Amino acid sequence: MIVCVCNNVSESKIQRAAEAGIRTMAELRTQLDVGTCCGKCAGCARKILREHCEKQ
Ligand code: FES
Repeated sequence: MIVCVCNNVSESKIQRAAEAGIRTMAELRTQLDVGTCCGKCAGCARKILREHCEKQ
């Protein structure tokens, strides 16, 4: 599933970033450009990041 349409970032890309040690939205933004355009994806991206971090 594509989370960030503006920058073509999928849910699995966010999950891989979490597995690689990304823990905050700021880091995710720097790494994948999530939420840097319209910003509509930020809430969804944050939720995926948090859920994936809790699983680890
Ligand atoms: Fe992510 Fe627009 S959908 S910045």
